[in-house]
Amino acid sequence: MTAARLVARTIRGIEPVVAEEIRCGGLGRVEHLGHREVWFRCAAPGPAVLGLRCADDVFLVGATVTGIGRSRADLRLLARAAGELPVRPLLALRRRCGGAAAPGSVDVSASFLGRRNYTRYDIEDAVGEPLAAGTGLPYRSRRGGVAPPPGGLSWRVTVADDRAVLALRIGARPAHRRDYRRISRPGSLHPPLAGALVRLARPVNGARLLDPFCGAGTIPIEAALTEHTLSIVGYDRDPAAVAAATANGAGTGVGWAVADAGRLPVPTGTVDMVVSNPPWNRQVPPSGTLARNPRWFWRELRRVLRPDGTTVLLLPDPDRHLAEAARAGLVPRERRPVSLSGTHPEIVRLEPVRPPRECPPEF
Ligand SMILES: C[S@@+](CC[C@H](N)C(=O)[O-])C[C@H]1O[C@@H](n2cnc3c(N)ncnc32)[C@H](O)[C@@H]1O
Repeated sequence: MTAARLVARTIRGIEPVVAEEIRCGGLGRVEHLGHREVWFRCAAPGPAVLGLRCADDVFLVGATVTGIGRSRADLRLLARAAGELPVRPLLALRRRCGGAAAPGSVDVSASFLGRRNYTRYDIEDAVGEPLAAGTGLPYRSRRGGVAPPPGGLSWRVTVADDRAVLALRIGARPAHRRDYRRISRPGSLHPPLAGALVRLARPVNGARLLDPFCGAGTIPIEAALTEHTLSIVGYDRDPAAVAAATANGAGTGVGWAVADAGRLPVPTGTVDMVVSNPPWNRQVPPSGTLARNPRWFWRELRRVLRPDGTTVLLLPDPDRHLAEAARAGLVPRERRPVSLSGTHPEIVRLEPVRPPRECPPEF
């Protein structure tokens, strides 16, 4: 088995961004986009699949099983499919994709849509035992809320309608957990969503990118890891946030400083991209000049952007803010609603209003 069928899990709303990342990275042929997932086929899979910055996680598809109903008896179908999985070739593929050798145990995480006469733990235990038998490793159940030990072979089972998918995680832990994230702050952004914001700003070689509300530094760090030639700065009014960003971003080349986003220490018209999630939510309120007048951010944003610049922002309540953005001379070019931990913000890409072209004099 050399070719592989893979599924990338995403947050709701950025499936097309992940699909584009897969295509542009030459990682495989995208087959279809589902709810929070992107299926793709790869002729010669390698470790590059673990480098997807916008995906929450990446799995090798082991089997799809149909005919899974609501009754507990249907779990037998899942157990049989798990027992028949080509475990050794799948493990070899996982190794080729950068998965760690010598896992110590087997664990399973299941989810399902619709009402069923069984629980997620029933599904997990039904497939966990045969998978353990196939791999010769002990099965660690999550029943009772016990977290499995790290470094195991993690399988994922999703059941929707009458169809189940059994898939094997490639990495030793979910891809959305980043090694650089040593310090988190209130409002720290989900790293794959930060990666998607950067991607939607379409960074080009050598461009200058600014995050004026950098917090723990997620967006600038994701940008630095996406495109090494960018010149990136992250500002925040809170010195503790800048200290966290400096620690998290060590070695990335990003410049960090304390600054108020209502009065940016940046010359007019010099920034190609502003990518950020402003403090317009209940978790982190605006402070400094913006506590008195949040509109100053939009004025500053327009001032620092080059005339052909672009800004990509995560806004919790875009309609409330876009009127202000328009007054500052920024028009929305793209709006993409996303779902994240029960909230529904929008990714909004805006550009400066272009001055009307001068008409040639009439003869
Ligand atoms: C939603 S958090 C950003 C989180 C960040 N993207 C991360 O991943 O950690 C908003 C940030 O805006 C900062 N902030 C609030 N008012 C500010 C202002 N006037 N100027 C600059 N930063 C400000 C807060 O200190 C906070 O770190």
